Amino acid sequence: MISKLPSESLTIMTELVLPNDTNVFGNLMGGRLMYWMDIAAALSAQKHCNAPVVTASVDNISFENPIKLGNVVHIEAKITRSFNTSMEIHLKVWGEDLTQQYKYKSNEAYYTFVALDPNRKPRPVPSVAPETPDEKKLFDGALRRRQLRLILGGKMHPDEAAELKALFVKD
Ligand SMILES: CC(C)(COP(=O)(O)OP(=O)(O)OC[C@H]1O[C@@H](n2cnc3c(N)ncnc32)[C@H](O)[C@@H]1OP(=O)(O)O)[C@@H](O)C(=O)NCCC(=O)NCCS
Repeated sequence: MISKLPSESLTIMTELVLPNDTNVFGNLMGGRLMYWMDIAAALSAQKHCNAPVVTASVDNISFENPIKLGNVVHIEAKITRSFNTSMEIHLKVWGEDLTQQYKYKSNEAYYTFVALDPNRKPRPVPSVAPETPDEKKLFDGALRRRQLRLILGGKMHPDEAAELKALFVKD
């Protein structure tokens, strides 16, 4: 199967924070942001594999800065690496106050998607050929992150996680 570039999967989403999106403090609700992130990440995964996808897992998300009512949300999603049927998507999120001309980072996250065939069974996806130093770094780290999430999801025994173990156990 062919390889594809991360840039081919780049997806940029822009949203405006309206009153119905906020909590009692006038900040964007975390759940609404995660919903938008899920859509942006799913589109990115679909651009890569050109097939329907489902969300398999979402890594821990910490919200560094709240996004205020009336501010703009920018979400950038791009594939880091694919395995057999799964794809890891990296997301970066910023808030922007257009009046004050101030842009601030909100959070980053990794979502994992699985491509499905017409029988809703996992199907193989193209591999990823990273180009830039940043894309290569994310590609290299993806194997570790995959092992950690599969262990936490009960899908891998810690003994099998060689890449992850190498981080902690030195010869
Ligand atoms: C994700 C799903 C397709 C995996 O199906 P499965 O029967 O466990 O399939 P497999 O064990 O063959 O795994 C398929 C791929 O999913 C990956 N996967 C499974 N569980 C995972 C998890 N918790 N985190 C990350 N990847 C996971 C596997 O690593 C494998 O990837 P690979 O082929 O690249 O190695 C299935 O669990 C599913 O449909 N879940 C519901 C998805 C959904 O509805 N999401 C929306 C939220 S409601």
